[in-house]
Amino acid sequence: MNITIIGSGYVGLVTGVCLAHIGHDVICVDNDLQKIKSLRQGKVPIYEPGLEPLMKKYIKSKKLTFRASIKDGIKDAIAIFIAVGTPSKKNGDADLTYVENVAREIALNMDDYKLVIEKSTVPADTGKKVERTIKMNLKNKNLKFDVASNPEFLREGSAVEDFMNPDRVVIGVESKKAEELLREIYKPLKPKFVVTNINSAELIKHASNSFLATKISFINAISQICNNLGADVLKVAEGMGYDKRIGRAFLNAGIGYGGSCFPKDVDAFITLSNRSGYDFKLLKEVREINEHQKKNFLRLIEDKLWILKDKTVAVWGLAFKSNTDDMRNAPSIDIIQALQAEGAKIKAFDPQAVHNAKKGFKDLTYCKDPYEAVKDSDCLLLLTEWDDFKGVDFEKVAKLMRQQIIFDGRNFYHDRDLQRLGFEYHGIGIGKT
Ligand code: UDX
Repeated sequence: MNITIIGSGYVGLVTGVCLAHIGHDVICVDNDLQKIKSLRQGKVPIYEPGLEPLMKKYIKSKKLTFRASIKDGIKDAIAIFIAVGTPSKKNGDADLTYVENVAREIALNMDDYKLVIEKSTVPADTGKKVERTIKMNLKNKNLKFDVASNPEFLREGSAVEDFMNPDRVVIGVESKKAEELLREIYKPLKPKFVVTNINSAELIKHASNSFLATKISFINAISQICNNLGADVLKVAEGMGYDKRIGRAFLNAGIGYGGSCFPKDVDAFITLSNRSGYDFKLLKEVREINEHQKKNFLRLIEDKLWILKDKTVAVWGLAFKSNTDDMRNAPSIDIIQALQAEGAKIKAFDPQAVHNAKKGFKDLTYCKDPYEAVKDSDCLLLLTEWDDFKGVDFEKVAKLMRQQIIFDGRNFYHDRDLQRLGFEYHGIGIGKT
């Protein structure tokens, strides 16, 4: 099928490449000319395992091409995915300006039937507004079209795998034709389909991300109780997780969730719920707990290091999670800035995210490896659970550090006997010192 994706950011690019991978002819459109140029050369502007070789393959076979204009991009397409950014506004609402612009552009340039599909994360009720915008701007009022919602559930760092092995494909439609086309698009994946109306499909996305964020905040709250009672949050999560109704996934206590999705979607869902007349107190507390988790981690560091001024703090991991170079809402940002505000000096190592970190941090020393970071440091913070940190030689680390104190924000080393090597080890809610 001829498919066009508008917006070649993270979601648009992964969706485009994978749709080509399952046999469709895909055009990715973006109004950033520079980005289109480098994409045409097979360069992927993000770190995402497995994406670049796949993209290069389909550029070569011409199953995947890039355009800088919607007019050119949609001419032969029957299905058009809107995958532009929906950043947060100050009030927490999702900013849908780009979505509206694209809907208008499609209307002004379409000359036959189109299925217009929301791929970006949008609040419920957006589909109606997209439909109205197209209707209002159609040059030929007799032209037929459908609007649909098809939210994505891709995780950064495993996006290609998540696309190719979806837990479900959610289809929000108001017509049989739209449903059939979307089933046809995903047929090669033989997925479980959840077919519903547009509003419910839009809500499934916000509800799913908000529920996952709730699970994380729940286990983070438990970790504080474990700290107070000397219990082990890892065992609590294990014991809870065997219950199929609960599941062990997303019960990893740590320094809080970050990224481009959870914080934004929780904010947008709280605002949307409020507008619908429901005060979503539970989600507000989920957000609160997430902020507190970083503050509690900082308080522990201050408690153990005493004066922070002129202390050297080594940091392993800056990205919001492993296997991505993404720094958006990374917990490391608040933690490092708070330590710097107290006069601490930061030496950091991250295998992939430094180029993005440099856009945000000031006065931070970027190190070429974990050992350079810990040299002459007064403590070590582990903030991102990169595999790169699994094989480190802690005898060497102990010799390099001025004080052998580790604050493990991901319980990454909970099973390593670091005390034997003379380290003072602090995890999150695992009762070890
Ligand atoms: C998320 C959703 O998982 C995905 O379905 C959706 O499409 C986009 O948003 P992503 O933001 O890439 O994906 O990251 P995810 O792996 O979900 O992690 C989100 C945050 O939660 C990270 O900061 C991660 O470190 C944190 N997390 C995750 C925990 O603190 N504990 C956990 O148990 C799991």
